[in-house]
Amino acid sequence: MALRVTAAAGEHDLLFLPWDIALEDWPESTIVALPRGISRHIVRFVRLTGDVYAVKETIEPIAQHEYDLLFELGRRGIPCVDPVGIVGGRTTPDGEELPAAIVTRHLQFSLPYRALFSTTLRPDTANRLIDALAVLIVRLHLVGFAWGDCSLSNTLFRRDAGAFAAYLVDAETGEIHDRLTDGQRYYDLETAEINLGGEMLDVEASGRLHPSIDPIAMSQQVRERYETLWHEISAPETIGYGERHRLDARVRRLNDLGFDVAELSVVSQEGGSMIRVTPKVVDVGHHSRRLMRLTGLDVEENQARRLLNNLDTYRVELGMRPEDEEVVAHRWVAEVFEPVTGLVPAELRGKLEPAQMFHEVLEHRWFMGERLRRDVPLAEAARDYVASVLTTKPDEKSVLGQRLGTPSDMTGLRFEETAELDLSELGYTSDPSDPSDPSEPGNLGD
Ligand SMILES: Nc1ncnc2c1ncn2[C@@H]1O[C@H](COP(=O)(O)OP(=O)(O)O)[C@@H](O)[C@H]1O
Ligand SMILES: [Mg+2]
Repeated sequence: MALRVTAAAGEHDLLFLPWDIALEDWPESTIVALPRGISRHIVRFVRLTGDVYAVKETIEPIAQHEYDLLFELGRRGIPCVDPVGIVGGRTTPDGEELPAAIVTRHLQFSLPYRALFSTTLRPDTANRLIDALAVLIVRLHLVGFAWGDCSLSNTLFRRDAGAFAAYLVDAETGEIHDRLTDGQRYYDLETAEINLGGEMLDVEASGRLHPSIDPIAMSQQVRERYETLWHEISAPETIGYGERHRLDARVRRLNDLGFDVAELSVVSQEGGSMIRVTPKVVDVGHHSRRLMRLTGLDVEENQARRLLNNLDTYRVELGMRPEDEEVVAHRWVAEVFEPVTGLVPAELRGKLEPAQMFHEVLEHRWFMGERLRRDVPLAEAARDYVASVLTTKPDEKSVLGQRLGTPSDMTGLRFEETAELDLSELGYTSDPSDPSDPSEPGNLGD
């Protein structure tokens, strides 16, 4: 029987691995020692011209099925390992048959869940693991993928710029459908709960589970987090121009549930834009670090999150891509942040921190929008805030938290007179009559 290697374009080097030897016996010189989760099959990591791959032995139809699924999931934007090739028709020099193999690219910086904690699995890490897994399952279900064997061992976790993301690693039992039935979704949650229960009990048995964690209650949490998220994001929302507060409401609800927004994509269609919101889980302090990096503003986590939501929405409205965030941040400071904070009357400056004031304006706009049931432009909210809140506030009450909103680099943040200003002239609006309003905001990062 001849060796059959099906490899993705540019991956011819796969041919040169020792396919005539059982994976278990591959020479140490090809093997890379990296942490690996529990598996049914033999899985080993190998290095080939600089790149690291995972090789898994299995039977050929299964390898083919998994390869196709991983390829399809990647195409649909799901975080999963990248399939590289399958190898069949393996025999030893004596003609003895060997199992087929599937090769995937090793997911850099990823860790199996057991390697995420060196000594003890603590509640905050466990919660983030579960949340990241719930996000992954929701995303899989949205594209019609029924996993069949959802577990921590079939997932890889990766910390990336403060985000804490779960990647699918084992697709062997999966199926893709046009749309999943409730029964298919519940089956996945049931297996997830059972598998997680076992995995948590294992961690407990090895004495590495924080005593405050109840393994069973923790494993049940995946279903609750999933349900909450599914309910919130499975229905695509059509948002018309002038309904920006509905978008804000969506992002806020997601934040209140403890999730963040990884991606806002806008699909223009008749009668409005359909907004798709992709959730994510982030590490502690992620927002203040990101805001600091982008704008030099040093603020507390929750304020940073609101300010970043505003910045991200501004980017979407400009029709710019996530890659442009640094450019957008500069514009946002100059065209949105500074004009608003510049509205603080001279006598109050120095008492109310600019970032705190901006944050309060965002909150003020939110409540105005809720009350008026319409979109409130930022400039209107800012003026109303200054008139109705700021000037009636006794001075001492305007002095808020010492650490809040202290720009680390004052040179980037001048607070000059910018008294009368119309933000809609600056393209920061969703009014359809405004010619600067991008009628095709563009589909971002889809
Ligand atoms: N591409 C990859 N990148 C990083 N780790 C991987 C990759 N492929 C497999 N692994 C590791 O190997 C383990 C077992 O792989 P898996 O596909 O789940 O095997 P099985 O089908 O036998 O359960 C995973 O838990 C993961 O830790
Ligand atoms: Mg597995």
